[in-house]
Order: sequence, then structure tokens, then C-alpha cells
Amino acid sequence: MTPARIMIGPATREERDWCAALMAGSEPWITLGRDLDQCHARCGDSDYLLWVGRADQRPCGFILLHPRGLAGSPYIASVGVAEDFRGRGVGTLMVRRAEEYFSAVARHIFLCVSSFNPRAQRLYERLGYTRVGELPDYAIDGASEILMHKRFDRP
Ligand SMILES: CC(C)(COP(=O)(O)OP(=O)(O)OC[C@H]1O[C@@H](n2cnc3c(N)ncnc32)[C@H](O)[C@@H]1OP(=O)(O)O)[C@@H](O)C(=O)NCCC(=O)NCCS
Repeated sequence: MTPARIMIGPATREERDWCAALMAGSEPWITLGRDLDQCHARCGDSDYLLWVGRADQRPCGFILLHPRGLAGSPYIASVGVAEDFRGRGVGTLMVRRAEEYFSAVARHIFLCVSSFNPRAQRLYERLGYTRVGELPDYAIDGASEILMHKRFDRP
């Protein structure tokens, strides 16, 4: 499966459950102590956009977005890819799609990544995000949330 064959769109009701289960069963959310109920609540929150990446019509990843989540700018709240689809460009594709969507209406985009999640940090750095802050002991003691920012090129 190549990224060219991944279709991205708003999650259906059933897909919301799939996203919550993926979140609850994956790092970093396990270490952050987010249980299935909390993941359901987050994935069902109507303030957020939840998009799903589909391969052959079956979900393989999700991205959770708040249109004005940080200082009035779009905020990428979570990105998750099913384990057997990782390392094939699905995460990159979903972040890029979110950027395309928001760059028409915003100048900046933000996200947070856990200090113990080097893979996700690499992904965001590769996509042009830079560290602008660190929140020690934010979600759990002993780990930071690293705030990252990207400025859109706008004419
Ligand atoms: C972090 C995460 C979202 C990345 O998604 P992904 O789909 O694996 O990301 P990509 O495939 O776009 O990029 C990841 C790697 O695959 C490589 N890659 C990208 N496209 C590729 C392709 N077509 N073929 C082969 N490798 C590819 C990248 O070079 C990258 O390598 P690296 O991890 O060694 O830096 C995913 O690992 C995940 O769901 N992790 C658990 C949840 C999480 O940590 N979420 C982020 C915090 S909110």
C-alpha cells in the first residue's frame, strides 16, 4: 500500500470507535494514562475534527485537529497510524493534508509531542515543525510535552 492509495476523510461513527481503540492501545497514550473512555471522549468531542486515512476503505490511521486550539491557531491534537501501516508515509500524508486545509485560513499551526516519543518528533521535524516550548511534567510527572510550531508560507 502506498500513500497514493490512502483516502482521507471525516470519521464515521464506527470509525470514531476504531480511532479511540487505536489510541487507547498505543503509545504514547498508554504511558500518558489515557484509558478507552477518555479516548472515546476525545475522539467524539465535537469541537475537534477527526479525519481517518483509509486503505481499501478500511481505516489505517487518524488525525485529530482543533481549528483554533492554540492562541487562535489550528492545533494537531493527535496523530495515530495502525501498527502494520507505520513507516509507509501515512502519518506524513495526514499531517500534510491538515496543513493544506488550514493554510488557506491560518498563518500558523501548532502541536505537542511527548518528550519520550522520538519517532513522532522526527516526523514533525522532517515536516518543518520547530520546538518553541517545553512543558515539564505537563501530562504526567517525569515527562514533558514539547510545543512545536510551523508557519505557513502565504503570499
Ligand atoms: C508517529 C506516527 C504517527 C508516524 O506515522 P507513520 O505513518 O509511521 O509515519 P511515516 O510513515 O510518514 O514516517 C515514519 C517513518 O517512515 C519512513 N517513511 C515514510 N514514508 C515511507 C515510505 N513510503 N516507504 C518507506 N518508509 C517511509 C519515514 O522516513 C519515517 O522514518 P523514521 O520513523 O525512521 O523517521 C506513528 O508511528 C504512530 O502512530 N505512532 C504511535 C502514535 C504516536 O506516537 N502519535 C504521535 C503523537 S500524537
